[in-house]
Amino acid sequence: MTAIPRDRELDGSLSLLRNGGYTFISRRCARNGSDVFETRLLGQRVVCMTGSEAAEVFYKPDRMTRQGALPPTALMLLQDKGSVHLLDGKPHRRRKEMFLSLMTPEGMKRLGERFEELWRARIGRWERERRVTLFYEARELLCRAVCSWAGVPLAGPEARKRTREFGAMIEGAGSVGPRNWAGMLLRARTERWARELIEEVRSGELMVPEGSAAEVIATHRDTEEEPLTTEAAAVELLNVLRPTVAVDRYIVFCALALYRYPESRRKLRESEDYSELFVQEVRRFYPFFPMIGGRVRAGEGFTWRGHRFEAGDWVLLDMYGTNLDGRFWGEDARTFRPERFREWDGSPNSFIPQGGGDHRSGHRCPGEWITIDLMKRATLLLNDAMEYNVPPQDLSIDLSRMPAIPKSRFEISNVRRAG
Ligand code: HEM
Repeated sequence: MTAIPRDRELDGSLSLLRNGGYTFISRRCARNGSDVFETRLLGQRVVCMTGSEAAEVFYKPDRMTRQGALPPTALMLLQDKGSVHLLDGKPHRRRKEMFLSLMTPEGMKRLGERFEELWRARIGRWERERRVTLFYEARELLCRAVCSWAGVPLAGPEARKRTREFGAMIEGAGSVGPRNWAGMLLRARTERWARELIEEVRSGELMVPEGSAAEVIATHRDTEEEPLTTEAAAVELLNVLRPTVAVDRYIVFCALALYRYPESRRKLRESEDYSELFVQEVRRFYPFFPMIGGRVRAGEGFTWRGHRFEAGDWVLLDMYGTNLDGRFWGEDARTFRPERFREWDGSPNSFIPQGGGDHRSGHRCPGEWITIDLMKRATLLLNDAMEYNVPPQDLSIDLSRMPAIPKSRFEISNVRRAG
């Protein structure tokens, strides 16, 4: 039984690659007059859906697995053999608990403070440079901060090297061809490094603080008997480090929003809670993850909008389009307006830049609070700790490039320490 529209394209892969994944689902939903439609990608049948109701259906606990669910381009960033993302049911919850145990208020504060300290120290160097590219600077500061927080030593030139590797993995995640190959190549090197680190922690050769990510992951047990394999532990350590470095993108979007909507600068100074509204709006408004894939798990078949989803069916949920859905966010959904978050009901499936549903029982990103905190700190540093000019440059965001970023990567000049 199929009551849903079938998209007129025979296979959408080329459109997805050419025009970008960000609008792939929402455009076709609009064209077909439906929140759900069927098409083919890479020769496979796939059901695509958009909106908060679709997200609720997708994020019902235990319904979808991420195994075999990657769209052809976007989500390599998350996919690692042996990682939490590919686990289901009880084993997933147990492993997820390990990530969530790192997200205590004190733990997150330590990371934020380290990041802030490194940023403030870097302003002096920026003052001496003609132009500074915020994207690459933020990336390195995040890499240094998260490694130090996680108990991972970075000696001398290593910080630059790791920053470059994490950067390449993130950039390569959404592409095919050379950008992707570069990411894969460097990733093999980074995985080797992470495996050595885990071994050194386990042998006692490297002493790391109790409760740090390196210690927690190296000693974690999924079952009573066995610790994680070295490979799995290395992958999970990278699953903390790499996505934290990926907050560089959001920091650039924060800087862009400060520049495009200068009234935000005054509001940030006038009201303490405005930074929260501001970064939430940045996460809603700017493109990061276009979509997320799942496959219906065995025994979890269901019917939605007249369509029967059987075990094994491939489903793609529109994240970017759901965040901009006018039915939920109102007529001005495509306007940057942080104040809207004063009235937001906090519902878990209407605002899904880092996944929907529940953090504990589902695959929703465990790094969401860290991300918000680092974005807030970066926004306030840009607004209060320094002054700078934004020289002429190409700040356009090409939605056919995944992951998206302003073309110039946000350059600033004439940096001065404020106050
Ligand atoms: C999962 C986005 C930052 C660690 C995810 C998912 C998305 C996402 C879309 C998948 C949700 C799903 O499968 O349903 C982002 C974005 C970030 C970010 C846009 C901003 C840069 C972080 C940070 C961490 C992190 C800072 C550090 C702990 C993870 C892990 C998973 C995940 C371990 C897998 C969770 C699971 O499968 O249960 N993230 N993330 N992410 N993220 Fe993030």
